[in-house]
Amino acid sequence: MKKFSHVIVRRPCRAMVDGITSAPELGKPDYELALKEHDDYIAALKQCDVDVTVLEADERYPDSCFVEDPALITRKCAIITNPGAASRNGEKNEIIGAVKKFFSDDQIEYIQSPGTLEGGDVMMVGDHFYVGRSARTNEEGIRQLTEILAKYGMTCSEVPLYKVLHLKTGVNYLEDNNMLVSGEFVEKPEFEKYNKVVIPEEEAYAANCIWVNDTVIVPAGYPAVLKAVQDLGYKTLLVDTSEYRKLDGGLSCLSLRF
Ligand code: GLY
Repeated sequence: MKKFSHVIVRRPCRAMVDGITSAPELGKPDYELALKEHDDYIAALKQCDVDVTVLEADERYPDSCFVEDPALITRKCAIITNPGAASRNGEKNEIIGAVKKFFSDDQIEYIQSPGTLEGGDVMMVGDHFYVGRSARTNEEGIRQLTEILAKYGMTCSEVPLYKVLHLKTGVNYLEDNNMLVSGEFVEKPEFEKYNKVVIPEEEAYAANCIWVNDTVIVPAGYPAVLKAVQDLGYKTLLVDTSEYRKLDGGLSCLSLRF
């Protein structure tokens, strides 16, 4: 099934070594390696029948390669979010230009303060959106998102989270009713109706895989997750994201897919 035609990514900037992290024990990212991994990521996406818009690195925002957070793109509208991390909030102004290449002004909506929302907290399942209430996404942000989605005939429901950065850090929908779940999301009643693939704790990072037009891109180095995804019948591509993991980032964080 072809669902996505476009992907937007932003090149990592040198300042990424000072990006936000909850895991300083992993060390700082190696910038040159991060660039190579980003090249590989773009190459993998291009194998999935999408065109890829590559935005220039933005040194003002160390985390700006995680382009999924300042915008949410649905099949009916684009929503510029209001990132809850102060050092990332300005990224919302820098994504608008790219979004405007694909959406007219009347299809672009905005989350306004005091609402906060980051795209990493939003998981799309058809026309329904699960949104994580996290340290980055607050109740008012979710309220505004719900109102915006309703205007376009789409729905939203809240999933509180306590242990991980974003909702999609720990749960990702692969289409066809299949969902990868890890940690605090394994027992969530809202996900009972899906074919849940429970990710072992030692590979929890790899719950963050992305489905792109029937191919699933899996982070390299997580054999149990790779096998589980292949057993579901998907074609898979591997991309090493070791340098992004050091900043709590994963495959979904690195792109907007629509
Ligand atoms: N380093 C990614 C984030 O904290 O948003």
